[in-house]
Amino acid sequence: MFVLVHPHSKPLGKGQSETLAQRRNTRYSSQKMTNPPPLLRFDGVTCRFGDVTAVGGVSCDIAKGCFVAMVGASGSGKSTLLKTVNTLVEPTGGRVLFAGEDVSELPPARLRRRVGYVFQGIGLFPHMSVAENIAIGPRLAGEKLAAARIAELLELVELDPAYATRMPDELSGGQRQRVGVARALAGEPELLIMDEPFGALDPVTRDALGHKVRELHTRLGLTTVMVTHDMAEALLLADRVLVMDKGALVADEAPHTLLMGAGGAAAQALVAVPRDQAERLAAMEGRLA
Ligand SMILES: Nc1ncnc2c1ncn2[C@@H]1O[C@H](COP(=O)(O)OP(=O)(O)O)[C@@H](O)[C@H]1O
Ligand SMILES: [Mg+2]
Repeated sequence: MFVLVHPHSKPLGKGQSETLAQRRNTRYSSQKMTNPPPLLRFDGVTCRFGDVTAVGGVSCDIAKGCFVAMVGASGSGKSTLLKTVNTLVEPTGGRVLFAGEDVSELPPARLRRRVGYVFQGIGLFPHMSVAENIAIGPRLAGEKLAAARIAELLELVELDPAYATRMPDELSGGQRQRVGVARALAGEPELLIMDEPFGALDPVTRDALGHKVRELHTRLGLTTVMVTHDMAEALLLADRVLVMDKGALVADEAPHTLLMGAGGAAAQALVAVPRDQAERLAAMEGRLA
């Protein structure tokens, strides 16, 4: 059988199975290392828009340094939940804590500096150059980003610093997304939130950018939450996968436990898609050999 192996966790060997006690131990020791407090805590977060409950009582902790992927069908509440972090949406119930502090009590400018955000579907400002786009966050906070810092940010996302003077329509889709990531990193955030950042990209560009973001996450010591529609991308990039379904958090698993069948029906339905594709490709390869 063709098995998807997660690159960031040691796969279990043949005949080996992780006991519950081992799993608890792993969780306990990783908690001990990162305790306290979690960088981000959703504490019974509920968001209602009129009759619609977009998010219905989500609780979870995200430890510093973790790369979390959030998956779930369209309309399951992923964007709404993420927007509560930088107070673009105010929960109708519960609270969000950032480094132990209630986000509703933090000055918005300071909060938004500590949280870099790549928004779903919102690209670059078309009438601003690449440099102006990257500098917009600090500028709104009353700071001027030096040209050298802009060059450094472009280099971080592997774009030639000469691109600083280009306009967004002079860039490819992948290059624009790289600028979007550079913009989110401009304020040296602790937390990077990305809402379907690579949704509109071709698979090759998407794969390359996914790797780049994972590498930046590690190099810059970030904590990252990335929404994606693509379970394969989630399994391959993240340390932890959260599954949203109809406003509820229905699974919270490491990629390897999801691949071993954990997380419940909604999660397993999502895992089945790339697994089935991988198996069919492996079968095709077998027939060709
Ligand atoms: N500002 C809003 N006003 C009314 N309904 C909203 C608003 N934002 C989101 N919703 C609704 O909340 C639900 C969850 O939306 P969203 O968080 O965007 O889901 P996802 O990002 O998982 O696709 C949907 O039913 C959506 O229509
Ligand atoms: Mg969304």
